[in-house]
Amino acid sequence: MKVDSDFLKKYNTSGPRYTSYPPATFFTDKFTNIDLKNSVIISNAEKPSSISIYIHIPFCPQLCHFCGCTTQTGYTKPFLESYVEAIIKEIELVASDIDSSRILTQVHWGGGTPNAIDYKYIKQITDCIKSNFTFDKEYEMAIECSPAYFELKHIELLKEYGFNRISIGVQDFEKHVLDAINREPSKLPLEDIVGKIKMEGFTGTNIDLVYGLPLQTIESFDKTVDRAIKLGTDRIVTFSYAHVPSVIPRQKTLEKIGFPLPSEKAIMYQNAYDKLINAGYIAIGMDHFALPHDELAIALKNKTLHRNFQGYCTRLTTGQVYGFGASSISQLHSAYSQNEKNAARYVNRIKKEGLAVIRGYSMSKDEKIIRAVINSVMCNYFIDFNSVANDFEINIAEVYNAVDFSVDKFQDFIDDDLMTFANNKIVVNKIGRLVIRNIAMKFDPLINQGVGTYSKTI
Ligand SMILES: C[S@@+](CC[C@H](N)C(=O)[O-])C[C@H]1O[C@@H](n2cnc3c(N)ncnc32)[C@H](O)[C@@H]1O
Ligand code: SF4
Repeated sequence: MKVDSDFLKKYNTSGPRYTSYPPATFFTDKFTNIDLKNSVIISNAEKPSSISIYIHIPFCPQLCHFCGCTTQTGYTKPFLESYVEAIIKEIELVASDIDSSRILTQVHWGGGTPNAIDYKYIKQITDCIKSNFTFDKEYEMAIECSPAYFELKHIELLKEYGFNRISIGVQDFEKHVLDAINREPSKLPLEDIVGKIKMEGFTGTNIDLVYGLPLQTIESFDKTVDRAIKLGTDRIVTFSYAHVPSVIPRQKTLEKIGFPLPSEKAIMYQNAYDKLINAGYIAIGMDHFALPHDELAIALKNKTLHRNFQGYCTRLTTGQVYGFGASSISQLHSAYSQNEKNAARYVNRIKKEGLAVIRGYSMSKDEKIIRAVINSVMCNYFIDFNSVANDFEINIAEVYNAVDFSVDKFQDFIDDDLMTFANNKIVVNKIGRLVIRNIAMKFDPLINQGVGTYSKTI
């Protein structure tokens, strides 16, 4: 099927991004500090046994109007200090319930803008992680950075503290687009930053781009993608701009400027896709592209790609995720748990209670099966129902029952030549990737409950 107005009319509906199953909109406030503590203890006996840590720094010197992340500006130095103290206290408390024989494979720092806080705080938190956990020899430690606040000496410090991956938020190279979204451009030429990261021996660099922003045109985004390709980073991410002003009121101001049309957005994605593939990148999931040597590209080939709230990852490196800081989400085998979103409330609750859970979700056995199926199709564009059955040590009929599978539900996708189903396997093709969220929604029994506001699927 061609990507034209009929295609968009049919498939550009609203739906979850499935960074988790169930989506965070289903988390409930009945899940409390005690449930998190119990879930952490239970997680010691569950798979994967390896540990991933997420650190959330919800501060930015200036807020970009397009941004959907939980972050704030206007914080004081004493408040930042109390926030760092709270994170350290939280890490120590949770670590005391984690079996010390378990190995830490992955640390991810997100935000907000973790690279805009004083580096002594980054060191204090990494020192705390190092003294409470045993790092795997091949561990990964990544940080999301805004180039507006990057100096070359910061890259040396991050290396010294043990970071080996840096993700740079570029979004767009055009100054007028950045102005429209209230974003500072890079302080240094990006060539110098990427060159320094490579020279310091980091194993991975990533660049984030966003399409669908005000004042972007098909031509201007083509140019942005060309410039990103020239930088030659291991990964390039092209996020589709998610406009949810009812959840993120600051996005409302962008409506006055206006956005590219959905049909233009679809061409921006397709052009970016073609350019990146021609430049040798491999498409990972919906929006990531990685050079063939990158572990995500290798995992895709081996069908062991995985996804968590921090983005795509591999089954090998990803453990159960323990989140620290305001709004962070722990993703354990049997439960999700999210902290207070408001940083001041988070600090107060950690001071008083040691933990700051605001909501969460305990997973049933069927929901774990649905999560495995949705993860597989979202990450690998592929589901082998036999292999899911083997993983859960059940028969294939039980898998089909859990996801309420029938071929009829997928007939439109099959007739429109977007996917195939044969031998208990679903294979999604290149155009089908555009509607991967629509395909995933067919496995989701909660989709009709109308909980939450979702962005458009294309
Ligand atoms: C925590 S931010 C990036 C780190 C850093 N603060 C920066 O701005 O460079 C993570 C990424 O989420 C993406 N993002 C944020 N809001 C978005 C939205 N509304 N739609 C799509 N992507 C978004 C951006 O590409 C951004 O780089
Ligand atoms: S895009 Fe980055 S710098 Fe901008 S508001 Fe979001 S987290 Fe902060």
